[in-house]
Amino acid sequence: MPSTPFIIVAIDGGAASGKSSSSRTLSERFNLLHVDTGSFYRAITAEMLRQRVNSHDLAAVKSALAGIKLATRVNGRSAAMEIGGHVAGDEIRSRAVNDHVSHFAAIPEVRTALLAYQRGLAGVAREKNFRGLVMEGRDIGSVIFPDADFRFFLHADPAERARRRASEGGQDSIAERDRLDSSRKTSPLACPLGAVSIDTTHVTLAQVVEKMAVPLAARLGTP
Ligand code: C5P
Repeated sequence: MPSTPFIIVAIDGGAASGKSSSSRTLSERFNLLHVDTGSFYRAITAEMLRQRVNSHDLAAVKSALAGIKLATRVNGRSAAMEIGGHVAGDEIRSRAVNDHVSHFAAIPEVRTALLAYQRGLAGVAREKNFRGLVMEGRDIGSVIFPDADFRFFLHADPAERARRRASEGGQDSIAERDRLDSSRKTSPLACPLGAVSIDTTHVTLAQVVEKMAVPLAARLGTP
């Protein structure tokens, strides 16, 4: 009997485009390890702010990165990044982190520090007997796993995304983050060539998930 395939699903998109909700749902439905790479950039940013490192001071950023030890903790179907044995909490959703994260994420050295770590999570998913990995971010289908089995790019009207984020509470200038993320030189936010682009503006989460689930189910032979 052929063994069940192990699949990698890449989901990219701007802030509040629907990535997190849809990737969490797919993770539950197909038993995939869920990885929210935005939380990694947020955790690194929170650590930089804690160490009072300015994103314009490259020497200080490099020195802080050299001292950061990364590891992984799997909780249920989610992979969380540990920095020095500690998983960051709600502080990564703070106003300060919202305001600074895109500046740190634009630094090539920060992205390089996370590159091998993110790719290594496929091995964690295999070891823990998941049927695959669903990783969400900005450069997953373009840089981290360009050969992923499935690559999706979610987008929605800016007004709708602002409404979604406001309904979650908290302050987050998502338009400014998207501007910075799309215009940076290293791994900018863009729909990777060959990815399936889905406009989530006028559709429900269930409809978005269905669109993604059909090809996954065809490959995995379930739900
Ligand atoms: O996904 P979320 O909005 O939490 O991501 C926070 C920030 O992390 C993004 O605005 C972006 O600057 C950065 N990021 C990135 N590459 C990824 C994931 C997130 O640059 N793969």
